[in-house]
Amino acid sequence: MNLTRRQWIKATTQLTAASLLPWPLWANQPELPMISLQARETTASWLEVPTPIWKYNQPMLRMQQGVTQLIRVTNHLQVPTTVHWHGLRVANAMDGVSGLTQEPIAAGASFDYEIMSPDAGTFWFHSHHNTIEQLARGLYGALVVTGNDEPLFERDWPLLIDDWNLNTNGRIDSEFTNRHNQSHAGQLGTFLTINHQRGPWLGQAKAGDRVRLRLINSATNRILQLRAEFPGALWLAKDGQPLSIPEPMPEMFILGPGERWDIGWLARDSGRLLEVSGGASLVVAEVEVSQGEKAYIPSYPGAMALPGNPMPQLPVGVSQKVPVLLEGGAMGQLQTAQYQGERYSFPELASQGQFWAISGQTGMPKEPLFRARQGESIELQLDNRTAFPHTLHWHGHHVWADGRWQDSLTMPQGQKRSVRLLAGSPGKWLIHCHMIDHQATGMMTWFEVV
Ligand code: C2O
Ligand code: CU
Repeated sequence: MNLTRRQWIKATTQLTAASLLPWPLWANQPELPMISLQARETTASWLEVPTPIWKYNQPMLRMQQGVTQLIRVTNHLQVPTTVHWHGLRVANAMDGVSGLTQEPIAAGASFDYEIMSPDAGTFWFHSHHNTIEQLARGLYGALVVTGNDEPLFERDWPLLIDDWNLNTNGRIDSEFTNRHNQSHAGQLGTFLTINHQRGPWLGQAKAGDRVRLRLINSATNRILQLRAEFPGALWLAKDGQPLSIPEPMPEMFILGPGERWDIGWLARDSGRLLEVSGGASLVVAEVEVSQGEKAYIPSYPGAMALPGNPMPQLPVGVSQKVPVLLEGGAMGQLQTAQYQGERYSFPELASQGQFWAISGQTGMPKEPLFRARQGESIELQLDNRTAFPHTLHWHGHHVWADGRWQDSLTMPQGQKRSVRLLAGSPGKWLIHCHMIDHQATGMMTWFEVV
């Protein structure tokens, strides 16, 4: 049947009206192509002999702030896996914690993650199934969420810093559960990579370029001690959350496993980043700056401040105070703790491969450390009663500490401090030490938002 012109107009109008109806939604939610993320075995050519590693096909993802992204993870490994989006405030079911928020993705299977980040910034993603092995084998990547009103940087470089435990034939040492290491500072590596490439990393900039360095510690256990030789550089953001005012960066700073710092730097002369935790200094990154014809280089890079993310207002009051006692390890004072519902002495725990406790519990307790209603303000009374530093990480949340929002916090031995958490999306959220040897041997718990 032919449509008369009149009918045609009518049909078109209806169509247009129908498609106009949800327009405001569409405007905020452009259809994004699906990202296909594949976990697979590959080799790295760092040495004369190839090193077998596990790696995602895309170890550098970009997403848009506020826009839902579908990421289909396909597991080409021989073993199950999951992916956790470290620092993203996603819906709990998408958090990727094997055994808590999802069943692991079987070998050969796929899982669709639908994630939306309300925050722009520097995040990362990694396996959260048998993390002690899968992270050490290389299953991680950088996740950059771009915002709409961010200042322009001529150079924007994510740097995933990792130390690998290679044995003499260039292979990853397959002993992932060394009890001595687990009860001390964790297994450290000896081979430095940046973005899965042998270090040092080299970048090139022109004098006058605004440079954004996104530092991410993707090591399984090493707390990086960094020395930055970038004169005049500023700290812009910690763990993806912009500082309200950029701060002059100290020359020396630490970056625990999982932590991120965004650095803003106005390039004039070449700069370097060194790692000194091993005694000797290793060059992590070097930025060569060529002197162009730029007539004028502003002396104060004030325009580098990042716009804030939609973080909640911190209320004055606190509705719960929760002690978070870190105990155990070698030279610690842990006498007893609960493990799988039973109380054991420290030697009994150690014989079961458990060395660390949070508030009297080791391993994954049946009951959460605390329950909170969405929006509730909690004071976490952190107390590191061990002889080692730890980098605590909160899933799906940032805590307010040192005047900034942080999802990971390195606490020196003996340190006692309180931080604030505002209960976010409903669900079961992990808290653990991001030194994975410690997590795997007990330093892990969870809280529930209802
Ligand atoms: Cu980076 Cu539990 O994670
Ligand atoms: Cu620890």
